[in-house]
Amino acid sequence: MAEAKRILVTGGAGFIGSAVVRHLVPQAGIEVLNLDKLTYAANLDSLRGVSGMAAYRFAEADIADSARVARIFTDFHPHAVMHLAAESHVDRSIDGPEDFIQSNVVGTYRLAQEALRYWRQLPHAEAEAFRFHHISTDEVFGELGATGIFTEDSPYRPNSPYAASKASADHIVRAWGRTYGLPVVLSNCSNNYGPYHFPEKLIPLVILKGLAGETIPVYGKGEQIRDWLFVEDHARALQLIVERGEVGESYNVGGGSERTNLQVVQGICDLLDRLRPRHDGSHRDLIGFVPDRPGHDFRYAIDYTHLENTLGWRPLESFESGLEKTVQWYLDNDWWWRPIVERHYAGQRLGLSKPEATAPN
Ligand code: NAD
Ligand code: DAU
Repeated sequence: MAEAKRILVTGGAGFIGSAVVRHLVPQAGIEVLNLDKLTYAANLDSLRGVSGMAAYRFAEADIADSARVARIFTDFHPHAVMHLAAESHVDRSIDGPEDFIQSNVVGTYRLAQEALRYWRQLPHAEAEAFRFHHISTDEVFGELGATGIFTEDSPYRPNSPYAASKASADHIVRAWGRTYGLPVVLSNCSNNYGPYHFPEKLIPLVILKGLAGETIPVYGKGEQIRDWLFVEDHARALQLIVERGEVGESYNVGGGSERTNLQVVQGICDLLDRLRPRHDGSHRDLIGFVPDRPGHDFRYAIDYTHLENTLGWRPLESFESGLEKTVQWYLDNDWWWRPIVERHYAGQRLGLSKPEATAPN
């Protein structure tokens, strides 16, 4: 029997990472080690369906802990790394950028460095086949006006501390490929949504605020535009890229579903009206316009034709069907989100405070 392909997934207890792990583990011939620090955003409950399977292992570890990461490389002996671990929330990066620099920049540097050390001692054929896949965001390209679209050649113009930290991570990974020959591949994706999404992000936040009958906060006038991709479509794209992507290339991944924030919020309200009607009016009555996010990017749009033309990927889920599945999932799975709301994050506004004071060195 052929040897299983061992994939080290970082951040596999997060939203997209857990979708990747749930996608990979049931496949014959794949073994996954999920390396995750278990920050506030992590949830091992998202992996209940696969965590008992023989092809799944978990290591609670920080990507910035070089010694620990080195041991994990030696013990697990991966054929590929899919690097998703990161601080991911723009509003939290405004309040506290330090964690973003530490995990996304320093952490990615240390992980790349350990991957390089490990890769350099692999036998030739294994070294040739090894891949380090960095999973990144369209936010590194900055913002668009009413027209235009991000391609793989768009200039980097990150605007938030989060985007700047991810742009730094992209540059580090690309440089480790170019300078040291580490076989890297990168992907930059638009806004994901779907089941197991931590309720600090727009779509799950609106669903839970709507269910609780609380004000649904729309930043500014809700005119900003995002492109939305169902998370399981992203997981499929990531497997294709790590397995068949060209070394040194980057791939844009998008949903082809641009919507204003207000359209998204109204869409969720209309679904809730149908699936869980309120007694005293529409969920749209709960919408409240609140002060805008500082530095708020106006529009993102992703051209994913490179991925489509070279690897044959396209999103399968329409935004309408994906949004309905997502709302229905939150209605059916309060066992997953209720403990988060009760213990970790109750939906308070983030991103308006001054950045934390950090001690000078
Ligand atoms: P998430 O916040 O839901 O999960 C991040 C996971 O990384 C958590 O499980 C957390 O514990 C772990 N983590 C954080 N710091 C770590 C560290 N130092 N060491 C080990 N583990 C650590 O994030 P997400 O939304 O699933 O995003 C995953 C990746 O995809 C991120 O790199 C993000 O930048 C990127 N991305 C996200 C989106 C999106 O819409 N959510 C879109 C494009 C790209
Ligand atoms: O574009 C990809 C990025 O998408 C990822 O790299 C990030 O990790 C991910 O968090 C997401 O970033 P956004 O800032 O676009 O996502 P968020 O859900 O925080 O906000 C989506 C839009 O909705 C944004 O324009 C801000 C707005 N918003 C958000 C919240 C939380 C509101 O209007 N009200 C809210 O309460």
